[in-house]
Amino acid sequence: MAAVETGERRRTPLALLRAARAARGGVQRLHRRMAPAPTAMLDMIGGHRTTQAIYVAARLGIADELAAGPLTPGEIARRVEADPDGVRRLLRALAGMEVFALRPDGRYELTPLADTLRSDHPRSTRSAALYWGSPPHWEHWGHLVDAVRRGRPVVPALRGTDVWSYLRSEPEFAAAFDEAKEGLADSAREAVVEAYDFTELHTVVDVGGGRGQLLTAILEVAPQARGVLFDQPSVVDGLGGLGERCAVEAGSYFDEVPEGADCYLLKNVLHDWTEQQALQILGTIRRAVAPTGRLLLVETVIPEGNVPHPGKLADLEMLLLVGGRERTERDYRALLAQAGFELVRTLPTASPLSILEAVPA
Ligand SMILES: C[S@@+](CC[C@H](N)C(=O)[O-])C[C@H]1O[C@@H](n2cnc3c(N)ncnc32)[C@H](O)[C@@H]1O
Repeated sequence: MAAVETGERRRTPLALLRAARAARGGVQRLHRRMAPAPTAMLDMIGGHRTTQAIYVAARLGIADELAAGPLTPGEIARRVEADPDGVRRLLRALAGMEVFALRPDGRYELTPLADTLRSDHPRSTRSAALYWGSPPHWEHWGHLVDAVRRGRPVVPALRGTDVWSYLRSEPEFAAAFDEAKEGLADSAREAVVEAYDFTELHTVVDVGGGRGQLLTAILEVAPQARGVLFDQPSVVDGLGGLGERCAVEAGSYFDEVPEGADCYLLKNVLHDWTEQQALQILGTIRRAVAPTGRLLLVETVIPEGNVPHPGKLADLEMLLLVGGRERTERDYRALLAQAGFELVRTLPTASPLSILEAVPA
């Protein structure tokens, strides 16, 4: 796919990305319709094997070992301390999916897909592979049936606590989660800053803004604006280095947020919560926002109907883990209206996230 050079990063134009996604969806649909139905079903049923094979390649660090050049399975096995026959079979399976490639000389090399599993790739997928394939996450997905039957997350019953506390009690799992989240947030941040004009704003409050990376990126493109990073004390206490134009405040968005700003930003926050909790958060912001202010929700907006979209599976993960949900534009419009906001427009970004702009109704 054509990409545009922008400083140190290659950026793919939004229209091309959308065309590529549509083409991928079309090819997948064609395959499902042309292959005998049981074959197409079995392809999907076996998806767990793909996840685990990629997880093992990531876990063993095979892409990092191949970064300097091709190696035989035996050489790789020695370096990653694994069984040579196991490594050969793993690579053969993955090479069938264009993740690694076998050369005529019997050595394996990186392909563009395998290259993203390098830990130092600028858009590395390694941490996502480590998180999604990790035994605890795997176990959670094994209980999806309970989440669907009962309509609530499975983690409390399985672990005796919610997913956030459980994460903190499992350092390796938590590290994989944090890194995966950070990797995804990195690419989304650039897409959000590109997709919205922040240059007219005076004060941007990033509610549940984590450690402030998105707000910092916004302030870079909006030199007239000031920022307030708002998150839980455990996340922002003692946090510095965000620059002169950015204040940091600790608190809970269920109680109150800094008052009177002209822009409140909520990125990947509402999807963590039920309708009632999301309404409570929006209510807090509605009380605080300036009459001429705006609210920007940055979330996955899932399409209505049968259109394929990654948010539809992400939504199951929200149900499974936290009891939250991914929503359609219609869902957001209704939720916002109930909280006293009017949805003005929804802007796509080059990431799977959209920006929903709302104003006080
Ligand atoms: C899924 S993360 C999103 C972080 C950031 N907006 C991003 O997109 O990278 C949710 C954020 O909400 C924060 N959070 C959770 N409960 C909160 C509360 N009651 N009050 C304020 N922030 C909260 C978390 O600490 C976390 O930073």
